[in-house]
Amino acid sequence: MLHDGRTILSNVVSSQIAMHAPHGGVVPELASRAHLENIADVVDTALRPLPGGLDDVDAVAVTRGPGLVGCLLVGALYAQSLAAARGLPIVGVSHLAGHVYSAWLADAALEPPYLALVVSGGHTDCVELREHGVAVRLMSTRDDAVGEAFDKVARLLGLPYPGGPAIQRVAEGGDARRFPLPRTRLPDGFSFSGLKTAVRYAVRDLGPAQLSAEGVPSDPTVVASLAASFQEAAVDQLLAGLEQAAHHTGAERIAVVGGVAANRALREAVRQRFSGLQVVVPPLALCTDNAAMVGAAGWQRLRLRGPDVPGFDADPGLAEFA
Ligand code: KG4
Ligand code: ZN
Repeated sequence: MLHDGRTILSNVVSSQIAMHAPHGGVVPELASRAHLENIADVVDTALRPLPGGLDDVDAVAVTRGPGLVGCLLVGALYAQSLAAARGLPIVGVSHLAGHVYSAWLADAALEPPYLALVVSGGHTDCVELREHGVAVRLMSTRDDAVGEAFDKVARLLGLPYPGGPAIQRVAEGGDARRFPLPRTRLPDGFSFSGLKTAVRYAVRDLGPAQLSAEGVPSDPTVVASLAASFQEAAVDQLLAGLEQAAHHTGAERIAVVGGVAANRALREAVRQRFSGLQVVVPPLALCTDNAAMVGAAGWQRLRLRGPDVPGFDADPGLAEFA
């Protein structure tokens, strides 16, 4: 729940991590069922700070995509039913625009133009928000998203889902120099599959004596060092791309957003590398998927383009950034 698009009144997240963890990743069917079971409670809890409840709501924003179609449908249908029942305007928003706007929401001093590095489980994009409502994608990944690479490497190392936080945790005790990994640098994009494969080969090259029955390294110091080395290489690759984009656009303001922006090594490295610029890395609760960021992007969309015609569909492949 937002007031005037930029003040957070509530930001309720119903996490499904515990439900998916035993499966080692998101199970789409379980995810959409859990959305259906939880959405009414989440909306009710989000409304609590409003004295008049729904009577105090002026407009509704909902994620239209990208994401899993079953989950998106639950949200889109629920939000449109609610808006229709209350006669409220509604906007369907790209969840990636939400990530771009999470920085605007996090820092009242941030205004476009700014560069946003969007790093999540499904996306690795460098975007320029030129003005409100106008975003241009400058760079993207050729293969895996960086969050996906964290999740896959975690699996190679026998670490639990979600992989990002698990790698960050064990990397703290590791030696990044013990297993040097290559960096992939492209002139106009990102690539993470080579890095992931390099970890796979490093694990294989340990030999059977050092691997458990599941094929993961049995020595925790090896796991920690591989995790540290992977994390350092991934952060290096992201920074190299971001630096290129910043140079190319002459950016003065830089934001790092999305679930992987929760990563401490990345947060610190960005602040250091761009110390002369205005750098915004939202607090953790605004990095991973959340409702407030969708509200902020929706508020701008409503202001600039007006409400959407009710009856719109979810769009799992939506690639809009504002
Ligand atoms: O934005 P998000 O919550 O959902 C998507 O839109 O995908 O991002 C989830 C991704 C997952 O791949 C997860 O492993 C990663 O963000 N992630 C992290 C950290 N926390 C979450 N990656 C690295 N370090 C973290 N601390
Ligand atoms: Zn996301």
